Amino acid sequence: MRMVDLIEKKRDGGTLTPAEIRFIIQGYVEGQILDYQMSAWAMAVFFRGMETEEIAELTLAMAESGEQLDLSVLDGRFVDKHSTGGVGDKTTLLLSPMVAACGVPIAKMSGRGLGHTGGTIDKLSSIPGFKVELERDEFLQQVKDVGLAVIAQSGNIVPADKKLYALRDVTGTVPSIPLIASSVMSKKIAAGAQGIVLDVKYGSGAFMATLEDAQALAKTMVGIGKTLGRDTIAVLSAMEQPLGNAIGNAIEVIEVLEALQGKGPQDLVELCVELGALMLVAGRKVQNTQEGRKRVRETLENGQALAKFREFVRAQGGNLTNFEQKNFSLAPLRASYLAPISGYIQWIDARKIGHIAMVLGAGRVTKESKIDLGAGVYLYKKQGDWVEAGEPVLELYTSTEDKKAEGIALAQESVLVGPKKPENLPLIAEVIR
Ligand code: URA
Repeated sequence: MRMVDLIEKKRDGGTLTPAEIRFIIQGYVEGQILDYQMSAWAMAVFFRGMETEEIAELTLAMAESGEQLDLSVLDGRFVDKHSTGGVGDKTTLLLSPMVAACGVPIAKMSGRGLGHTGGTIDKLSSIPGFKVELERDEFLQQVKDVGLAVIAQSGNIVPADKKLYALRDVTGTVPSIPLIASSVMSKKIAAGAQGIVLDVKYGSGAFMATLEDAQALAKTMVGIGKTLGRDTIAVLSAMEQPLGNAIGNAIEVIEVLEALQGKGPQDLVELCVELGALMLVAGRKVQNTQEGRKRVRETLENGQALAKFREFVRAQGGNLTNFEQKNFSLAPLRASYLAPISGYIQWIDARKIGHIAMVLGAGRVTKESKIDLGAGVYLYKKQGDWVEAGEPVLELYTSTEDKKAEGIALAQESVLVGPKKPENLPLIAEVIR
């Protein structure tokens, strides 16, 4: 087989066979196929697309390109959740202890943030002492003992995606549904999930700007899951404004602790209850989502989710004392953005707020950037709320005067106040099974 023939086949709209797809992925990981040919192939996929069977084969070939976790050594049915990424998205931190408290074990590998989107591993790193890297045996033992462990994705899991994603990032081939879907699903499959609940976000702060694009991506991923024998469900959720009120790292852990005590923002809690209910169904703990919603909500009311979160953090070496005693280590410089007029908040642009958080130091400009775990943004108001002229809408936290000035300048373009109450769109647009 020659790579040039396979590039031409895809360029001309052909369907690649399983053997051809394996040849491409294996050759690329082993270094026989070089970046220039892989770039041409990715661009051909970008324009021509792939059939469901081709995407499923690509997913499997990528999943098998490195180490795979075998969770069958543990008891229980493993269900994983994946978010396509957003601003203020701390669902993993809140949802995981809720679901684990209901008896569905969570063995999760998460990522770091890049650009305007945050990452679970950075948020957990703001807890003093928390270890985001565990040896495989330690990780499995913790899942066995606590029912919940969250670690940074190991470099050996899906090396094909690591290499291909970096290439796509610089060749204009990231926004391709077959390539995004196979990238996401290969990581879930290599991590041993039997059930997969996907939170596919749409809107200004998401990868997919429109609901239609998010639907297409969700259907493709659910199709891959079905083809590969994994229970897969996708929730389409809005990311026009940030989720919850806190955006950053330590500041999001604070919000999660409040939510675990029943004082969480309504949108964050609603999304976690819905995703949690679907995870309990996929984990065969309940018969239907109605029963699932009731069970996960109860864990917030009776303190079981909070107890599970504390147990999990302690097991990974973290110390929540500062957080629990409200002796927070947020960044020292603060600035409020005040409403210029009285009125209703028309919108708070998620992408722009994510960008402000990054400028303040909470996010990464490049993979190598060091982040300020105490930096971030707090939203006093959300879309549809009334605000008086001069009342604070945003609070910015950072460590240097120049970042503070840049953040405040950007804040003016991220919020719009107007006289008419805007129509609030539903948080969850659709569930795709
Ligand atoms: N997230 C991923 O994991 N992969 C993509 O290609 C895009 C978003």
